[in-house]
Amino acid sequence: MNRFNPIQNIENDGLEIMEVGNWAQKKYKLVGKYCDIFTSGMKNKWDLVYLDLFSGPGIVKIKETPNLLKNSALIAMSLPNSFNHYVLNDYSSNTVKSLQQRIERLHPDKSYQLYNEDANQVVDKIFDELPTYLKISKPLFFAFIDPFSLSLHFETIKKLSARQVDILVLHALQMDGVRNMGHYISENNPRLNLFFGNSDWRLRLTEEKVAKGQFVKFLSDEFDNSIRKLGYKAAIIKERITNNQGSGIYYLSFYSKHERGLDFFEKVRKGNNDQFELF
Ligand SMILES: C[S@@+](CC[C@H](N)C(=O)[O-])C[C@H]1O[C@@H](n2cnc3c(N)ncnc32)[C@H](O)[C@@H]1O
Repeated sequence: MNRFNPIQNIENDGLEIMEVGNWAQKKYKLVGKYCDIFTSGMKNKWDLVYLDLFSGPGIVKIKETPNLLKNSALIAMSLPNSFNHYVLNDYSSNTVKSLQQRIERLHPDKSYQLYNEDANQVVDKIFDELPTYLKISKPLFFAFIDPFSLSLHFETIKKLSARQVDILVLHALQMDGVRNMGHYISENNPRLNLFFGNSDWRLRLTEEKVAKGQFVKFLSDEFDNSIRKLGYKAAIIKERITNNQGSGIYYLSFYSKHERGLDFFEKVRKGNNDQFELF
């Protein structure tokens, strides 16, 4: 498990680059190491498909440093055991163009499909357009869902759940949830209905739970309850990502229908405590 280092420096190619805080490296380590253990453990049994619904341009710059790193999509393409197929999506057309040029240059051998759509609108199309060899054989998907905010619709998770899909999702519980709490719980705001896939969460939102620390747990528990109804098990411990001041900004939450997926995640999570590089 330690042989693959997801933190991979890369040179500037003049195409689009996204700026991230240095704490994003913890996210890259977790997703990269999960992909590594997943592809090495499952490679001979399934057709493995990597799904990245919020893929970004492929390269990030760590703020306040000159360092450029591969992002989730290019990390997943750099694994020692490759996925059989990659499906990448971003709603920004420039972002998708940059990613495509990078894949063509760095990984011309990979089987991939790129989409330029809203992540909440693209899943049906992705499944309809999978290469035929994946339809007749046994596809097993790993979906990385990495939005900036709580913009993911539960309906999207529901669509993914129709297939064998293990899911790692970034939940911007503090960065978006707590920051916009007043707005999101106001009566006519649909944001959390869409995020949880129901509207009866309002019945369970007591005054206590609106207290700041409790609201994060409320959001997380409600999402977990919704996804459990689809047959998923939730990893008990989520990976908490903090900024340089130690304040929580988001969680990475893992879901699978199978114990093996949860075992893989727990192994990787436990090994992810090493400090990220401070350049
Ligand atoms: C957090 S960034 C990407 C992160 C990338 N996975 C990484 O490893 O750095 C989120 C990306 O999602 C895109 N995005 C935001 N909202 C979206 C939506 N509703 N559908 C598809 N892409 C979206 C943005 O253009 C941005 O590139």
